[in-house]
Amino acid sequence: MCGIVGYVGPRKVVPIVLEGLKRLEYRGYDSAGIVYLKDGKLVKYRCEGKLANLEEMMEEVDDGGSRIGLGHTRWATHGPPSEANAHPHSDCSGDLVVVHNGIIENFHTLRESLTAKGHIFTSQTDTEVLAHLIEEHLRDDLAQAVAEAVKEVEGSFALGVMWSRQPDRLIAARSQSPLVLGVKEKGGCFMASDIPALLPYTRQVIFLEDREMAVLKNDSLQVFNLDDGQPVEKEIQTIDWNVGMAEKAGYRHFMLKEIFEQPQAILNTFRGRLDPETGIVRLPEIKLSSEELRGVSRISLVACGTSWHAALVAKYWLEKWVGIPVEVDIASEFRYRRLLLGPDVIVIPISQSGETADTLAGLRLAKDLGAKVISICNVVGSTITRESHGTIYTHAGPEIGVASTKAFTSQLTALFLLTLFLGQVRETIPAEKSRELGKALVELPALIEEELPRLQEEMIPICNEFGRSRDFLYLGRGANFPIALEGALKLKEISYIHAEGYAAGELKHGPIALIDRDMPVLALVPGDGVYKKVISNVQEVKARHGRIILVGSRGDDALAEIADFAIYLPIIHEELNPILYTIPLQLLSYQIANMRGCDVDQPRNLAKSVTVE
Ligand code: AGP
Repeated sequence: MCGIVGYVGPRKVVPIVLEGLKRLEYRGYDSAGIVYLKDGKLVKYRCEGKLANLEEMMEEVDDGGSRIGLGHTRWATHGPPSEANAHPHSDCSGDLVVVHNGIIENFHTLRESLTAKGHIFTSQTDTEVLAHLIEEHLRDDLAQAVAEAVKEVEGSFALGVMWSRQPDRLIAARSQSPLVLGVKEKGGCFMASDIPALLPYTRQVIFLEDREMAVLKNDSLQVFNLDDGQPVEKEIQTIDWNVGMAEKAGYRHFMLKEIFEQPQAILNTFRGRLDPETGIVRLPEIKLSSEELRGVSRISLVACGTSWHAALVAKYWLEKWVGIPVEVDIASEFRYRRLLLGPDVIVIPISQSGETADTLAGLRLAKDLGAKVISICNVVGSTITRESHGTIYTHAGPEIGVASTKAFTSQLTALFLLTLFLGQVRETIPAEKSRELGKALVELPALIEEELPRLQEEMIPICNEFGRSRDFLYLGRGANFPIALEGALKLKEISYIHAEGYAAGELKHGPIALIDRDMPVLALVPGDGVYKKVISNVQEVKARHGRIILVGSRGDDALAEIADFAIYLPIIHEELNPILYTIPLQLLSYQIANMRGCDVDQPRNLAKSVTVE
């Protein structure tokens, strides 16, 4: 995720900004930049790659001891990593600069209208529209221009803005993207996207809330409401976190933080693509015409590990709602079998990292055979995205824990959007159904957000009871069968407990032989069309003295009677259960791994990005 650092005060700004950015490196980034004021002019340096490149560049530079400036580390979302796309971005005159975190959803429209007014764009980013939009509103006060400009903006932003004609101030503003301000009694104000950047300098902070803006000067800091311009009284808070805690926003591990970030990641993935009123989905990034999409005869999904589980869920969705045959392959198998592909097939490689060697090899084979390749990926500019004909990006932000959590539920979100989109283009989903499914997705993030803390608590007794087990069995059916696979993978990855996921109907074809008191069985039993079937399978386990954890619908009292532990989830649209039912399984794995003293974020023998075969 991008990082912002800004400073105005009595000290030299360049070392403060560089040190602050270094402390945000853990968030992941692919380019960096800095701007400061020297002799009344803004001086800007940017480069692709690691911060070390920028630091090296700055060693040769005479910054004139500047006392005001901004810095940014960019994690690409619109346009690949490059110097031109790195922040800060300038207006036409070069007198105004912006650094930005978040996504400007209506940037296409804004860019077109600004271009028509004569603004010249030099990057592919959504951020650059902000610089030109503020320029458009600028008269003699920067804060006022920022407030007016952001009224036209849809999406999320944390902003740092600077103008050479008001050289004593920085403007900060936020909407749905965090921004924290730091103050020092002896003068000097800071802004940062995250607390670690501030810790070497101050522990006195002010958290900006959504739709607030601040004017930072050496000796004053004022906060205003962005919408009505009224001043806002803010409380200064003292941070007592150490650096490690601050990087994880107070969570013990990145994995836990990322589990809790899922509502935002899901929201970011559908926002701007799904009309909340009609359920209509727009995915221009697919770059295929409606005619081409109607001519597709088959979809082939290719992925590894957790991403393969997302593909398995999508098969249920696509076949049900689009009525198109879907095949799903593990990429390492796909690449070594005879592939019957051609121009009428869409191949969809799914990869969080965009660098997985087997998935990439599959993509290349598919292209050679003339298939259309549309990837689903979380990392902009990664190899898989560069080599695909089009990419649907998940907007989960960088995932640092090796065990994939928010990237998985974002992949599911992207695949659900794709299902709606294809169903709408091919007219297999009636308008009323689109509205219903779209509404269900829009409601999901808030619902997950509400359930997360309770679910985390509920895992403690289950973990105490089963955390020392040697084996685990996960059962599911239908679109929740892949979620059983994912639950088992999560547990084995981070706790080193042997775990298997099975389609519940397969139980009596072998695995039932394993059932005894030492084999906990977790089954997913939402009140869907196969509910009774799974309950029968669970009864078979109970009859053999198996110990049972059931995850099902709130209000289904039968579950508590059958199971040793029942985890209840709210009733949502059945189609979205795979996303919701993933959450308690992630939390259970986390709790168990943590209790067993495992290295949750970097489990043994695993890599975040598997770039070898
Ligand atoms: C997920 O928890 C795993 N770390 C792993 O299975 C992962 O999903 C797999 O290696 C594929 O990675 P990708 O999504 O980056 O291609």
